[in-house]
Amino acid sequence: MYTDSDRFRDIASAFIEAGYITAPGRVIKLGKEASVLCCPAHPSLGVENVALKVYKDQSFRNFRNDAVYLRGKVWKRRDLAHLHAFKDQLWVDTEFRVLERLYDAGVRVPRPYTQIGHALLMEHVTADGDDAPMLKHARLTRDDAARVLDEVIDAIDRMLACGIVHGDLSVFNILYDGEHPVIIDFPQAVFANTHDDPYPLFLRDVERVVESLAPVPTDAAPAVRAAEVARNLWERHYLIDASVLG
Ligand SMILES: Nc1ncnc2c1ncn2[C@@H]1O[C@H](COP(=O)(O)OP(=O)(O)OP(=O)(O)O)[C@@H](O)[C@H]1O
Ligand SMILES: [Mg+2]
Repeated sequence: MYTDSDRFRDIASAFIEAGYITAPGRVIKLGKEASVLCCPAHPSLGVENVALKVYKDQSFRNFRNDAVYLRGKVWKRRDLAHLHAFKDQLWVDTEFRVLERLYDAGVRVPRPYTQIGHALLMEHVTADGDDAPMLKHARLTRDDAARVLDEVIDAIDRMLACGIVHGDLSVFNILYDGEHPVIIDFPQAVFANTHDDPYPLFLRDVERVVESLAPVPTDAAPAVRAAEVARNLWERHYLIDASVLG
């Protein structure tokens, strides 16, 4: 039987041949949609380890409500003949492109290195030399949580400046490197300029992080604060009534 570890070994060998890693490494997390490995980096990368995210084949074919994330992502008519294969690839491509765009814009995301087939290689995020924990599991003081929330809101603002809405943001998709939050997991990201209704996805992203990180009970009700934060950010970047242009 062809097991997960056979598949990881085969995928890793493509990255070894391409000169990015030297061995298949170890599993950080086995997931429903993707698994992430920590692999020793090729010396030319100048880092010790890198993270290899391997998507399951067909992982998103039945992705819940995938249509909402596909809106505004256009493809050529001839690709329709291979729609399923194309869709599988689209999620990986989206994640890689979004990481590139955000990393170049200075948003704290793992540095992307390369993509081969249904797998992508990126910076391995660590905390004290170990795999960085999800923000959900990071031990934060109250002050830390308030500072991290401000940093996440700043990152959301910068993502929006790049035209990107994460679409599945939560404390499960943010790592904590001991000092700063690092946002991960972008396959379902949407492009606010071409999607026909991105605001509900954006608002949900903001609500989830504010509800998890806002101090309770002294702060305004988190849902109220989230709605206000989301509206202010959105208006800075998008809410321009075209009639003002005459
Ligand atoms: N660059 C990275 N550095 C260190 N750890 C990472 C990195 N990327 C992902 N991980 C680890 O792998 C886990 C899963 O990654 P990610 O959230 O991107 O995949 P996923 O699509 O949520 O997987 P699934 O939904 O199938 O569980 C993360 O929670 C984190 O623990
Ligand atoms: Mg995730």
